[in-house]
Amino acid sequence: MENTENIEQEALKEADAAKDSGALYEVKMKFLGRAGKVTALLKNMRAVAAEERPAFGKKINDLRERLEAKFSSLEEKLKKREMQEKLSTEEIDVTMPGRRQQSGGLHPVTIVKDRLVELFSGMGFEVFEGPEIEDQYYNFTALNTPEDHPARDMQDTFYLSEEFLLRTQTSAGQIRVMQSQKPPIKIVSPGRVFRSDDDATHSPMFHQMEGLVVDKGITLADLYGMLDEFAKAMFSKDVKTRLRPSYFPFTEPSVEVDVSCFSCGGKGCALCKGTGWIEVLGAGMVNRKVLQNCNIDPDEYSGFAFGLGLERIAMLKYGVNNIKLFTENDVRFLEQFRDERR
Ligand code: DAH
Repeated sequence: MENTENIEQEALKEADAAKDSGALYEVKMKFLGRAGKVTALLKNMRAVAAEERPAFGKKINDLRERLEAKFSSLEEKLKKREMQEKLSTEEIDVTMPGRRQQSGGLHPVTIVKDRLVELFSGMGFEVFEGPEIEDQYYNFTALNTPEDHPARDMQDTFYLSEEFLLRTQTSAGQIRVMQSQKPPIKIVSPGRVFRSDDDATHSPMFHQMEGLVVDKGITLADLYGMLDEFAKAMFSKDVKTRLRPSYFPFTEPSVEVDVSCFSCGGKGCALCKGTGWIEVLGAGMVNRKVLQNCNIDPDEYSGFAFGLGLERIAMLKYGVNNIKLFTENDVRFLEQFRDERR
């Protein structure tokens, strides 16, 4: 009985001394918790003479109730004070700038592709997308590529079987378009192509865009005029264009197209390797044999075609020196294009 009084005094004293609700909780547990001092008294019941047990039990329960009331009133007071302190010290500065949500951006190859599609759409071209898995016929044979042409080699082309392969050029789409549409034809065909090739400027997977125009009376001058337009819109309005003779099995004559260096203006620099000119694409007049392969009469119709590498254009345009950067997905690289106009 005496012990209960001591415990009560002790509990009240410690409760009053608690500085915050956390400390108060500790004190509460010390006395009323499962291993607390008051709880321990009940466990001592056995030591009390049987006739005194009811009185003893009541005494402890009363004590428990008094302490509980004390703790909850103290707790309420402390919590109120803590809330007031919090409110008076924490301030919201409504003039602080907000945290901006970072938005993603388009991949540089997508930016170049979209610009080109926009540009050529403006000149009346439609977009055609061919399959990435082609067969030898569309990728080579119909494009007048001889059976023993080195491009057909296993070293250059990824074969899926004797017949099927991953297309090495979007030119394969030319055949599909000419076999399914009648002239006039005016299409561009962007897409992925695959070659067994791997260095700083070549990647086993890259993107090309093909262009094809077939109609009556199409000449090399039409090709030249259109390319000049393309180069000015893509690089700078001051660039000049020139055609150099070249060879592709599917065009005759074939040309390689250079633009005057948009970095140095043609004087010679690192970008144009001192020549003042940069090669941007291959093109030519559609070979008569290719037209014939697609049942288009070469005496009635003529056409031009061109093919360019999207990574190459992006590298030139943005000064990227390694093609691997386009597929590594390093955000430090990609985020530099976030605000690039499409
Ligand atoms: N297919 C060629 C290549 O992959 C590029 C090309 C050259 C496409 C001339 C054409 C063209 O349409 O006329 O290198």
